[in-house]
This record gives sequence, C-alpha cells and structure tokens, in this order.
Amino acid sequence: MTNSNKPLPICPDVHWVGANDTETPLFEGLWSIPEGVSYNSYLVRGSEKTALIDSVHEKKAQEHFDKISSLTDLSKIDYLIINHMEPDHTSAIPQLLKKAPNTKLVFTPIAQVIFKKFYGTNPDAVLVKGDDMKLSLGNKTLKFLQTPWLHWPETMTTYLPEDKILFCCDTFGSFKKLPDGAILESDIYMNKQNICECSQKYFASVFNGQRDWVLKAIEKFDALKLEVEVLAPSHGPVYTASVEQTLRQWADWSKGSCKKTVVIAYGSMYGMTAKCLGALEEGVKEAGGTVQAFNLSEVDPVDALTALVEAPALIVGAPTYEHEVFPKVADFVNLLRVKKFSNRCATTFGSFSGSGEATRKLSAELTELGFEVVGKPLPGYGSPTEADLEKVKELGKSLAERTFSKYNAV
Ligand code: FEO
Repeated sequence: MTNSNKPLPICPDVHWVGANDTETPLFEGLWSIPEGVSYNSYLVRGSEKTALIDSVHEKKAQEHFDKISSLTDLSKIDYLIINHMEPDHTSAIPQLLKKAPNTKLVFTPIAQVIFKKFYGTNPDAVLVKGDDMKLSLGNKTLKFLQTPWLHWPETMTTYLPEDKILFCCDTFGSFKKLPDGAILESDIYMNKQNICECSQKYFASVFNGQRDWVLKAIEKFDALKLEVEVLAPSHGPVYTASVEQTLRQWADWSKGSCKKTVVIAYGSMYGMTAKCLGALEEGVKEAGGTVQAFNLSEVDPVDALTALVEAPALIVGAPTYEHEVFPKVADFVNLLRVKKFSNRCATTFGSFSGSGEATRKLSAELTELGFEVVGKPLPGYGSPTEADLEKVKELGKSLAERTFSKYNAV
C-alpha cells in the first residue's frame, strides 16, 4: 500500500478513508478543478459498532475499500451515514453494499427517496428525523442534525461528541487534492498550499446559491453550543487548528463582503470594449478601491465568480453580438443567476458597431437579478475616444463610491 493509499488518523479510532481524484476535469461536469479534489469518507470504530461516514465517487471505490479493509473487514461496517446524496459521495455505495450486505444506511427520509431513484434499491435504513436522534457505537456516539439545502434538500450533519468532530459533508469543503499523507489543515498549511483560495472557489461554485442555508446551519451549531474541535468536510482538508476561523469565513462569505473591491468581467472581440478597462480601474482607484478584471474569452468564468464572493461591486462589459450580449458574457450572467449572486451594485459597459443592445440587456438582467445598477452603459458606438474614456472613468468612480457607501466598505 502506497502512502497515498493509507487511511489517515484524525483521532483514535476515527480515520479518513477517502480518495483523491485528479482525473476528473470538471466537478459536477461544470467547474474546472485543475488541481483535483478529494472525496473524504471517515471510518468511526466504537467499542461495539462501526460506522462509515459518507462514501466516495464510484471511480475511487476500490481505493476507498482498500483503505477501509486495512482497518476492518468491510462486512463489519454496521452503519453507513449518508449526510448527502450527491453521487461524488454515494456512487460507490452500491458496490460497498454488496461487500457489506448487513450495513444499515442512516439518512434523512428525502435521502432515502433519492437513493431509490439513483440506485434502484431500498436497503435497510435508519431514518433521521428532527435533531434528537443519536446512534451509539459503544464508547462513541453519533448525533444527527437537520441541515437541509447544504446544498441539496436532503442534507444533514453528523456530530461525534466524544471527539468533538463535526462531519459536515460538503459544507466547509475545498477543491484541490490532498497532499500524500496529509489531511489536517495544519499539515497542509505547513506545506504552503493555498487551501483558502480553493475553498473560496468551491464556495462560489457549489455554495453561493445556498448561502442563507449556510448561515442557518452555523446559527444552529452556535445555538446548540456544539463544541467543535475538528471540522471534517467531505472535500479538502480537515480543520483542527482553525475551526472557528473557517466557520466565520464561511459566514462572512454568506453574508456578503464589504471590501473595497470591484470585479470587472468582460468580453471583447477586437479590443474596443477592452479599451475601457484602464479608465474603469482609474475611476475605482479614485474612489479608494481596487479592481480584479477577468476577460471571459480567456479565463474560466468561475474565476470571476470566485473573486465576486469578496466584492460588493460588479462591472460587466460586452460587445453586441448578433443583436445579443456577447455569448461568453451571457454565459457568465447565467451563472450569476444560477448561483444567486445579487445584493451588490453593478454597472455595464461595451462597444458596438451595428446595434447596441448588449449593454441595455445586461443592465436589465442585472437589475432583474437583484443588483443595483448604477449609471448608464458606456461608451457606445465604435472605438472609445479620449472623451468617452473620461466618462467611463467617471462611471467606474460613481459605481465604486455608491457601493462603498451603501455597504460601508472598508
Ligand atoms: Fe460533494 Fe454536493 O457533493
């Protein structure tokens, strides 16, 4: 067994038995993961019973089973806790149940329905209802909390009070494969890997649309005064040294940022729309802010979404293409809609040759999504002149001033 195939201890009798995936290019078939992702699963061995918490993608089933088998016979798993039904955590389960036919599934009633729909079977199960259910493993106990919409309707969270571990599945996760032999964030930070950046991208692509539910879950953990010394998500590092910091970071992302930053996401066919960038940045700087610009023809749109998690203002630029918004920009706006980005100020810019519908349509769409649109789109017909760029600079400045004042940005 190579180092990467070994189970990793979290604390006595609790091990990570997950797997890294560096072959899948797009998470959910949508989000680029050039640095991979981990599917975390945890084996909890009590003095009387053994539970597996979440499983892995079927592509990694054998690696997962090998890790479990090095600790216990698969047939000795008494309970399989399913916090979330998405197949990156469940598609290995049908194979697992063939090797462990006596294992009881533990999940919510909605998860049971989804399981039948996904895998065509209805195995023996313990259904979790309310927040009072617990399962004794002997010297360890598993408690279950209803935390729906993190990020599907069936999700729940599992707490192990004896070891103060919160198994939070997707919530508080990160993209990026785990380094060989490391699972704790303290080890990973020591390796100087920027897990925080991958966590923000993960939040933007998986969780931004459910940010109200993230806040509700954190409020529930606080209200229950859960003592959490280990935060064990289903992707990325396990947190031990920075549990509180991670919870607060996710709460801040969910509430929305008040930093003095402006994201510019744009497309430009022949460089005329792009000529406005310098002027916009100058205007934002005059208002005391900074800019992060993304050419959507060249970068993954999720990079702009990721930056937007911490920016209260958005500037979207597009030429008009066949009477429509330039498609790369239209796709980005659709992602804003799907991932429920709003509660920000915005403005639009763009140049055109034939007709100029793009910026008008963009402004209308952003308004409909819940952005406060500031100013009128500029510069308009053809390549911007010096006089046009002066107005564009003023547009950037007005947007930044309005945003920073509205959100008390610092
Ligand atoms: Fe990691 Fe929502 O699955």
